[in-house]
Amino acid sequence: MEKLYPDSEVELTPFVARHYDALLNLVTAGFYRGFIRKAIASMKIEKKDRILDLGCGTGRNACLMYRYLDGGSVTGVDVSDIMGDQYRKKCAKAPGATFVKQRIDIPFDLGEKFDKVFISFVLHGFPQEVREIIVRNAFDHLKEGGSFHILDYNEFDLDKAPAYVRIIFKKIECKYAFDYIKRDWKKILRETGFSRFEEHRLAGRYARLLTAFKEPRNKNQETS
Ligand SMILES: C[S@@+](CC[C@H](N)C(=O)[O-])C[C@H]1O[C@@H](n2cnc3c(N)ncnc32)[C@H](O)[C@@H]1O
Repeated sequence: MEKLYPDSEVELTPFVARHYDALLNLVTAGFYRGFIRKAIASMKIEKKDRILDLGCGTGRNACLMYRYLDGGSVTGVDVSDIMGDQYRKKCAKAPGATFVKQRIDIPFDLGEKFDKVFISFVLHGFPQEVREIIVRNAFDHLKEGGSFHILDYNEFDLDKAPAYVRIIFKKIECKYAFDYIKRDWKKILRETGFSRFEEHRLAGRYARLLTAFKEPRNKNQETS
């Protein structure tokens, strides 16, 4: 499939998509396993939650989130058929985990609202105007009182980071990621309508789970 954004690294080659989990474990020397478990544990998932996972990949994260559910659901959305096949296989024993093939970089409507929207290492890989569409898609798919969980790079000054961070970042990241880490994400999310935030720093200060809350409308009106 032709890339929608030729400079993006989150649109994976078929080889990388097919072996995504194994490659991630390999390049992080197994570190990613604990990292993703810790991030998902910080989401405060409740048993009946309905969760939307944007750019869900192989279903690994969906399966981890599913463990917290009892009567809830996870809907994974991804543009890639290769990821869709892996998701369905991985989540075969999780009847509440479903896959929808859908581009997230354009406005879309799944026809239902969710308690939580999750996006993991996807947002940084797009131009800013596309990220804003994705954030809007997340907001529009959330119930009032719901939360948006962005697991991605933290904001940081690459020039002040240790040499090993600079070298790895420059080696693995596309041009959009360099812009992503410089942006004020709480300000961007506030402009979309989110009004309260929590953050959990991960991997030192270079990654984080940023949670943005869509407050019930009357509560927002009272504070504005
Ligand atoms: C770096 S991977 C991250 C996968 C997963 N979120 C994770 O943390 O393991 C990026 C994912 O975004 C998906 N993706 C890229 N562009 C997309 C688009 N325009 N619409 C939907 N999914 C997209 C890719 O197919 C891939 O599965």
